[in-house]
Amino acid sequence: MHTAEAIDIAEQFRQTYGQSPAIIARAPGRVEFIGNHTDYNGGAVLGVAINRFVWVATAPNSAGRLRFASDQATHMVDLPGDPGTRFTGPEVWANYPLGVWRSFLDFNLPQPAGFDLLVTSDLPAGAGLSSSAALELATALAVHGLSNAAAIEPGQLAALGRHAENKYVGVPCGILDQGTCAFGRAGHLVHIDCRGPAFSRVPFPSSAHLWIFHTREKHALIDGLYAERHRECEEAAVSLGVRLLADLTPAQLLVAEGKLSSTHARRARHVVAEQARVQEAVAALQQDNLAAVGRLLTASHRSSQNFFENSTAALDRLVDLLESHPAVFGARLTGGGFGGAVLALTRDSFTAGDAAEIGRLQAEHQHRLPEVIHLHSADCAQVIWRG
Ligand code: GLA
Repeated sequence: MHTAEAIDIAEQFRQTYGQSPAIIARAPGRVEFIGNHTDYNGGAVLGVAINRFVWVATAPNSAGRLRFASDQATHMVDLPGDPGTRFTGPEVWANYPLGVWRSFLDFNLPQPAGFDLLVTSDLPAGAGLSSSAALELATALAVHGLSNAAAIEPGQLAALGRHAENKYVGVPCGILDQGTCAFGRAGHLVHIDCRGPAFSRVPFPSSAHLWIFHTREKHALIDGLYAERHRECEEAAVSLGVRLLADLTPAQLLVAEGKLSSTHARRARHVVAEQARVQEAVAALQQDNLAAVGRLLTASHRSSQNFFENSTAALDRLVDLLESHPAVFGARLTGGGFGGAVLALTRDSFTAGDAAEIGRLQAEHQHRLPEVIHLHSADCAQVIWRG
């Protein structure tokens, strides 16, 4: 049990609601290690659950109201029941807990009538580290914990979180974020074959390190570019006569590419080659060949940059700077793209001073220091406290 964290959030809960929480759950953010936009195309992806978290505390309330508060929101959302609509503006974050609560019905899980909920987090929002999935899964575990029903198993938890995001938040994401959050384990990467989906774990080499360089550029998932790429991939699959782009090998795509517009061909080329890179990365990790893993990460970035076109000048520049550093194995944009963060896989010898120097060089160009975070792998979403 994570007692210190639980005591802290329980105190904040008492200050907000005047009662003690009944359940506290914690869910990790995630880094997309490799497999950019492969998930909703039926491919494979490698993610890592990270030691930055969202905590959700809940308790039933006798008024039968749905009350949502967050340490990052200025005021509480207080509802007499399902409003039947989506929030916009400053309350938009409440779509996540509300969407999870609505999804309980869709998944035939008990739906508590009224509860108080408090969210706290040390996970930067908008960095492409999936604060959304962490919020969904921590909410699902905490609110489900209010009923006496059997625990939700991780596959169902991931599916429920994704369902809430697709249907009630309105983002057509794949299973990467929720799957990594539900199956993560310290010292491991999560491999997801997204067609099943089937989840497994690959040991993360103990001599390698993960660094995040967050550009602080807006990461515009909901603003449509993510949905546009998703649609382009579906259109390319239709033109190629396959259900999902990951149904094709690179050789098959080469033969069939003439059927596609140049935009659709670039999208398909990225997805099909990226899918192959994920498999190569698994093999290289199993052989502890970190130089090869690093080359695959950087190749993934160049493919996002040139073919999927979901990178930005700031992300490209960070990858250029990191790629030329002798203690960096490889670097790539991580997550949806269009802003957000670069992931670097480094040797032990890469220091906070090296990271700061890269940040300084980046700021010369971007006029803004990136936020640098040295991350570690962490365990999956779980209930950490019961009152
Ligand atoms: C976001 C989505 C994921 C995945 C990545 C891109 O993080 O939520 O499902 O599609 O983008 O790989």
